[in-house]
Amino acid sequence: MKLQICLFLGVTVFCVSTADFSPPVVNISLDAPAYQRWAPLKNLYDIDFLRKAAAEVIDSTVPKWVHEAVKPIVKALEKYIPQPYAGEIQGMASFYGTDIADIVLLNFAYEVSAFCTSIVTQDTKGNIYHGRNLDYPHDVLRNLTLDVVFIKNGQVAYRGTTFAGYVGLWTGQSPKKFTVSGNERNKGHWWENIISAVLLKSSPVSWLVRETLESAVDFQDAVVRLAKVPIITDVYYILGGVRAGEGVVITRDRSGSADIWPLDPLLGKDVAMKALNATGQNHISMDSLYKVLSVNPVCNRITVYTTVMSAATPEKYTTFVRDMCM
Ligand SMILES: *[C@@H]1O[C@H](CO)[C@@H](O)[C@H](O)[C@H]1NC(C)=O
Ligand SMILES: *[C@@H]1O[C@H](CO)[C@@H](O)[C@H](O)[C@H]1NC(C)=O
Ligand SMILES: *[C@@H]1O[C@H](CO)[C@@H](O)[C@H](O)[C@H]1NC(C)=O
Repeated sequence: MKLQICLFLGVTVFCVSTADFSPPVVNISLDAPAYQRWAPLKNLYDIDFLRKAAAEVIDSTVPKWVHEAVKPIVKALEKYIPQPYAGEIQGMASFYGTDIADIVLLNFAYEVSAFCTSIVTQDTKGNIYHGRNLDYPHDVLRNLTLDVVFIKNGQVAYRGTTFAGYVGLWTGQSPKKFTVSGNERNKGHWWENIISAVLLKSSPVSWLVRETLESAVDFQDAVVRLAKVPIITDVYYILGGVRAGEGVVITRDRSGSADIWPLDPLLGKDVAMKALNATGQNHISMDSLYKVLSVNPVCNRITVYTTVMSAATPEKYTTFVRDMCM
């Protein structure tokens, strides 16, 4: 039986199913060489489990005979991968004790499901809240979900939610500046992604999120970067800022042309829109947004995690791994 319990985090109340859980949080230092950065994962995970999980994700994406055939090719591609990702992927392969081709594949294999929901909303005082559900039909990802705090010069530079082994971010927050989530538009294939990345020198969608979190000086700058830089597949980027009205959905194709819709951006399901409408603007909060993201089928069997965040109050960033919402 699933029970509902309520947690008080600061002044925010989250009611979660007892089977939902908070993922581990890990500090990753950007001051450390790329090759060593992800070593702290060794303290959080059993390496055997990480290896098995990676194999499971790859096997479900890349047919076995193709996998063997492409290994040498993927290995050769390694030298085209830009820094710091190349170094981070090499480091990851080294402590996984696995073939680097597999970690490269792992980083291109994720095809985030098109059913993901992202919401940016504003309360009557002009506070901006951003929530997202990440859907992916793979149970093992629940145990790989990880909140990562990227540290630079001893300070929190930005944070995000990802899966152990994956160096990009689909969900993230630059404190006091903006929050961002990515939703896939069409499922690209892993091999198209690799070709596009290498031959066209385009950035994987989740790497551009990381670069934007690291470099953009404010919400507007983040919008421009996410709208223009060539990426390997079509995607929606959803952004929330720190001031009233700062919310957009950017509809991207690979080359850089983009449609930008202003607040109230809501991407995903009509059901989410109904639940949000029912909540009413004067009841919008982190908690009510979490509830909207828990309504069936906004939260569903393949929802891996829910994150709610607000760049103006960065300490409230909260992720729960979902236990098969029904
Ligand atoms: C995830 O971890 C829990 C607790 O360690 C375990 O019971 C469960 O079987 C794991 N699930 C998967 C899909 O690995
Ligand atoms: C992570 O880094 C922050 C900022 O430097 C620090 O306050 C916190 O104690 C660190 N947490 C861990 C678990 O090392
Ligand atoms: C939600 O409210 C907006 C604005 O009032 C309206 O345009 C939209 O149709 C409503 N959606 C649903 C699903 O009720």
